[in-house]
Amino acid sequence: MKILVVKNYEEMSARAAEIFAAQIKSKPDSVLGLATGSTPEGLYGKLAEANARGEVDFAAVRTVNLDEYYPISPENDQSYRYFMNKQLFDRVNIDKANTMVPDGTAKDTDAFCQAYEEKIDAMGGIDMQLLGIGRNGHIGFNEPDGELIPFTHLTALTPSTIVANARFFASEADVPKHALTMGIQSVFKAKKVVMLASGKDKADAVKAMLNGNLNTRCPASLLRLHPDVTVICDEDAYSLVK
Ligand code: PGA
Repeated sequence: MKILVVKNYEEMSARAAEIFAAQIKSKPDSVLGLATGSTPEGLYGKLAEANARGEVDFAAVRTVNLDEYYPISPENDQSYRYFMNKQLFDRVNIDKANTMVPDGTAKDTDAFCQAYEEKIDAMGGIDMQLLGIGRNGHIGFNEPDGELIPFTHLTALTPSTIVANARFFASEADVPKHALTMGIQSVFKAKKVVMLASGKDKADAVKAMLNGNLNTRCPASLLRLHPDVTVICDEDAYSLVK
């Protein structure tokens, strides 16, 4: 695991943008695994700027998102499909047909999840997977638990995640209670993983990920088993690591 400690959110976003831009340049039809939340907004903004300057071409890029609330419609402005369109896809020259976000309206979720996993495999797998880290150590919506479901699945959100995500909704009661998420093993199929963490409220999770034992109660700790992970942390997020 490679760990880059940078000054702040701005530098974290800039370093991540360099890494993703280099990936796209080296393989123009890269399959990028993407994430939502506050953490990657700066990265997406920088990639959009680089695209506008003609430095990064998304014409052949394919993307797969980690997760989506369930149930939720893609038009809902809290859906992760809406977020991705607004933060990245509508700002770059990507073909939306090449972008996959789990379908928050799927009726048969088991069949949907299996098909999602198969589509990732059919694309040749993910070349570079972007991750944030939850305050509770989750990755995607793989919440801390005694055991983890390996592949894409429907999951219940933990009370702490509902509280953490309530900031995006009118009230806590409006946060969906479930989500569709890629599993830990889906993430592990990615050839490279880039994790971003910023801010003091991530410091406990980053410490548990890097200093604690491997533990399904800190799903991010399992990333230490992946052969190619780069963690870009700002000083606040790294502040408790020994
Ligand atoms: P955040 O979420 O980027 O909004 O902090 C990260 C996560 O929960 O994975």
